[in-house]
This record gives sequence, C-alpha cells and structure tokens, in this order.
Amino acid sequence: MTEPFIFCDGLVKIYRVAELEVVALQGLNFSVQSGELMGIVGASGSGKSTLMNILGGLDRPTAGKVRVGDHDLLKMSERMLTRYRREQVGFVWQQSARNLVPYLNAVENVELPMTLAGAAGKSKRQRAQTLLEMVGLGARMSHMVGELSGGEQQRVSIAVSLANNPSLLLADEPTGEVDSNTAQVIYDTLRHLNTELKLTMILVSHDPGIARHVDRVVSIRDGMLSSETRRQMRMVQPDDVDYSDTLAETNGHHEETYEELVVLDRAGRLQIPKEFLEQFDIRGRAILDVTEDGILIRPAPQDRDAPELVIRKSSLETGSQPARKGGIRGAWQRFRRK
Ligand SMILES: Nc1ncnc2c1ncn2[C@@H]1O[C@H](COP(=O)(O)OP(=O)(O)O)[C@@H](O)[C@H]1O
Ligand SMILES: [Mg+2]
Repeated sequence: MTEPFIFCDGLVKIYRVAELEVVALQGLNFSVQSGELMGIVGASGSGKSTLMNILGGLDRPTAGKVRVGDHDLLKMSERMLTRYRREQVGFVWQQSARNLVPYLNAVENVELPMTLAGAAGKSKRQRAQTLLEMVGLGARMSHMVGELSGGEQQRVSIAVSLANNPSLLLADEPTGEVDSNTAQVIYDTLRHLNTELKLTMILVSHDPGIARHVDRVVSIRDGMLSSETRRQMRMVQPDDVDYSDTLAETNGHHEETYEELVVLDRAGRLQIPKEFLEQFDIRGRAILDVTEDGILIRPAPQDRDAPELVIRKSSLETGSQPARKGGIRGAWQRFRRK
C-alpha cells in the first residue's frame, strides 16, 4: 500500500473552557489514501468536526501526529497553516450560508476565492463556469444565492470550495439541512467530482447510509475510531448458469455488500458497540474466552466485588508478575481455575 495522503497517529484534542477540559479526540489513528472518498459517521459530540477542523488547519491538535500530504500540521507556524488552509483545503459546511455571499450571484461566488488569491479576470470566470457545470448548475450561473434551492446553494458551495484547486475537500455534514432526495444529489455530485478530479475527500454525516456513496466509512465514538465499514462487490451468478462457459459470458451481476469491522488501536484497545454491551449486560468488566476461532467476550458475574475479580483487577493494574506475563488472558486463566 502506498503512503497515505492523510495520516493521524494518536491525535489528541483537548478544549479548555474556563476551568473545564473537554477531550474531543483521544488518541485517534486515522489514514486516508490519496484520491479516496472517505465517510465519517458518529453521534453528535463524538469529535467529527474537531477532526475536520484540525485536518483543514482551522484548529491545532493538542498532541499526536497529523500529516496531510507533505504538511506536518502540528509543526507548522501560524502563517504556514493559514497558507495551507487557503491553498490546499476546500471546505463545505452544513449551512451553505457559511460558504456563500448572499449579494453575489452563483458565478461571482465561485470567483470570489480566486479573486482573494489574486487570480486574473478571464481565467477566473472560465474556471468558475467550469466548476458550476461540474456540479450540475450550468443553467444557474447568474442566479442570486436567494434564488437557488437549498440543494443548489449547497452545490454552489461545493464549486466555491474547489475554486482554488485544493488537494483536499472537507465536507462537514453538507446534507444536514436538506431532505433525502437533495442529499442524494449532493452525494452524487461529490462522487462525480471525486472521480473526475481525483481529489481526496472526507464527508462527515449523521447518516450511516453514506456507506453506499463513499469508498469507506469510519465511525467515531468518543473521539476515537470505533469501526470501519468497507464496501465490497460480489459477483452473483444465477443458479442455472453453466460455469464451464467463459466467465465473461455468464449473465451474473455485481452486488454490493458491506462489512463492518471493529477498529483496534495500537495498544489493542477496541470499542464494543453499545448495543452489544447492553444486550449482554456487559458493564465495567468482562471475561475473555479464547476459543478456536477468536476471542469471546462474556459478561462477568453480577457480583462485581467477587474476590476473584478483585484479584484480577489489582494484578492487572499493578502488573504483578503472573498476570503481566499473560495479560488479560493470564488473568482470565487464574479466574477460571477458581
Ligand atoms: N470550541 C470548542 N470549545 C469547547 N469544546 C468544544 C469546542 N468544539 C467542540 N467542543 C466539544 O468537543 C466535543 C466534540 O465536538 P465536535 O467535534 O463538534 O463533535 P461532532 O462534530 O461529532 O458533533 C464535544 O464534546 C464538544 O462539546
Ligand atoms: Mg460537527
């Protein structure tokens, strides 16, 4: 595999508000390949926007590593970061108003970032028109922002975000305020641009259904990656086909399937989906059974102060010899012998 375009390792973001500390990202590991259209889902408050703001150079991480292309975002000076943000990143926000100037028409809005970057007149207009055509708004060039529907405004925003030819497009809940049909059009537009411009894109959404529209989806929970969903294409053959025929001639079709995998961090930590924990009443502690196929996580006996559990916990915490050797498994075997 080639070097990822985006690489985050142990990324931490702590917001300090008055006396309080909010840990928005707690050691997040994340990478995106160049040209990938990546989805991020997660509940409100899970850290999605924090991650986007850091990747876009709007905010700085507290600790960890974060690299985008050749840019080490932790080490950059304020000036370099501003330049990175203007030249390398396009943003699309949930409220299209954040991208658009209401008293300019569509094409003028797309020209604006180019004007600010010092581009010349004629090429600007041409590029703005091309971008509006790419997002399917060739017929709306001279409409004022207020004359466009919510979905159209969002597509103008996408064209604006691409005006300065960024290498990374970050879209933070671009479909958060539109109906599902309009969302569909926005997803299709982003997919089209991703293919056409070979641009790396990250699309944040509330909707786990975005798996259908992107190459890969990661879900964030409490500031860490918890799972990753990959889309796979499977060839489905009708039962009555003679497989001795040439493969290409069979009238099978491709079917999309999705596989959700839980993500382990470097320390071997994983987040177990809340529904599973609730279903099996797993709280605080659990038993790991090593089976032939893998590891089974079972609820620990209800009495949480049972002596064997206390022994297990303290031996793990202090790292006293027998438990340290086998880790959880060693502790578990001791527990089993009782
Ligand atoms: N500027 C900020 N100051 C203080 N806390 C913040 C700030 N931005 C976000 N947070 C907190 O960080 C956590 C993650 O927020 P955010 O990244 O916006 O989540 P999401 O985009 O997934 O809804 C939340 O607990 C939020 O309240
Ligand atoms: Mg957000």
